Amino acid sequence: MDSAETWNKDAVAAIVAALKDAPGALLRILRRVQDDLGWVPPPALPMIAHGLNLSRAEVHGVASFYHDFRHTPPARNVIRLCRAESCQALGAEALARHVRSRLGVGFGGTTADRSFALEAVYCLGNCACSPAGVINGHLLGRLTPEAFDDALESLVRR
Ligand code: FES
Repeated sequence: MDSAETWNKDAVAAIVAALKDAPGALLRILRRVQDDLGWVPPPALPMIAHGLNLSRAEVHGVASFYHDFRHTPPARNVIRLCRAESCQALGAEALARHVRSRLGVGFGGTTADRSFALEAVYCLGNCACSPAGVINGHLLGRLTPEAFDDALESLVRR
């Protein structure tokens, strides 16, 4: 079965049951699904609509309006590179070229096997250690291509 078809229906049903009477239930349910599953599977939307007595179109409209909601499964490893000014001044573009070439995807892309996603961010609050990036939640600074490769080796989930 394709990973895009695999999602935990029981978990979504439990979330709907727990939050369906709460104020702002739809957004709270969508957020909880995203937090717990890592994404909002499109086939879960009719289940949520049914639980809230809303139309599928209403639920789909809200789920697609907010860009924070992922509609595909997340990659196992998420790499975020800072593209803001301080990092740009200290080598972020060369680093980005290296990372794009190493992973074979551009910003906003995910490798075909869903091992890696590459995201652009605009300042990580780590400007004193530019260029900065994050691998699987670990904030890194002074990232040369070599330092990136070393960090990738130790921080990736296999
Ligand atoms: S500009 Fe990159 S961390 Fe601030």
